[in-house]
Amino acid sequence: MSDFPESAVPHGAPVLSLRGISKHFGAVSALSDIEFDVHAGEVVALVGDNGAGKSTLVKILAGVHQPSAGEIFFAGKPVKLVDPSTAIDLGIATVFQDLALCENLDVVANIFLGREQRPWHLDEVSMEIRAWTLLNELSARIPSVREPIASLSGGQRQTVAIARSLLLDPKLIMLDEPTAALGVAQTAEVLDLIERVRARGLGVLMISHNMEDVRAVADRIVVLRLGRNNGILAPDASNEELVSAITGASENSVTRRAGRRALLEHPNEARS
Ligand SMILES: Nc1ncnc2c1ncn2[C@@H]1O[C@H](COP(=O)(O)OP(=O)(O)OP(=O)(O)O)[C@@H](O)[C@H]1O
Ligand SMILES: [Mg+2]
Repeated sequence: MSDFPESAVPHGAPVLSLRGISKHFGAVSALSDIEFDVHAGEVVALVGDNGAGKSTLVKILAGVHQPSAGEIFFAGKPVKLVDPSTAIDLGIATVFQDLALCENLDVVANIFLGREQRPWHLDEVSMEIRAWTLLNELSARIPSVREPIASLSGGQRQTVAIARSLLLDPKLIMLDEPTAALGVAQTAEVLDLIERVRARGLGVLMISHNMEDVRAVADRIVVLRLGRNNGILAPDASNEELVSAITGASENSVTRRAGRRALLEHPNEARS
């Protein structure tokens, strides 16, 4: 559990700050000089093309990789995330893209998976009550907590994985592509869930390739390009701004389409 009392994280203060974070894998520079903050009660979207360094950054914050340089501040204090359990104990929860749920176990067992041996060792009934309470707080639509994961939809699985990550009362939750495999209705459900997690005062760092989802829930958008910060945008930034920050090119199909539209709507202005 976190060493920091609740009062140490005033609402709206940065819960996480990255300063000059770099990561090399041998000769490959995966991240260079990354700086941004995530505040309590804020959703920050991390976007970027394939290979931009998003997963590497998440792994550093989850304690899987060590940064080659730079500092991480959590709840105002410098921290070294030397391994995954250090990150979890500090209050950094991660929902990896593959969710890591056990298909044949039910919802309760999955929420408590690997946590049964914690100091507050619970019996089956208390675990079921705790699982229900957590899911109710999130207004999650799970038919029964005794349902095996195998019979749940993609959105419901994502919900269980998020509930599981909230069990230890984290201050920051990282979600890697939470809507990637979901249909329209399930995506909407998961986005609602992310808003409820934010309403609990958590900082949320969400990786996504889906700009519509990003705009729907993010308070700020951090763009990575080739391992560098390539802009921090507001969710109402134009598609052109967002695409050019991600691709580094101001000339691309989105800007060309916008140009053609402008030409059709204002032919005289565009020609002059
Ligand atoms: N363990 C590793 N060893 C060597 N190079 C790595 C390692 N992990 C990542 N890289 C390199 O670091 C860069 C960033 O990769 P990363 O997986 O973080 O990108 P990403 O933004 O998550 O991309 P994607 O959208 O495809 O998941 C890539 O050039 C990748 O090849
Ligand atoms: Mg990745």
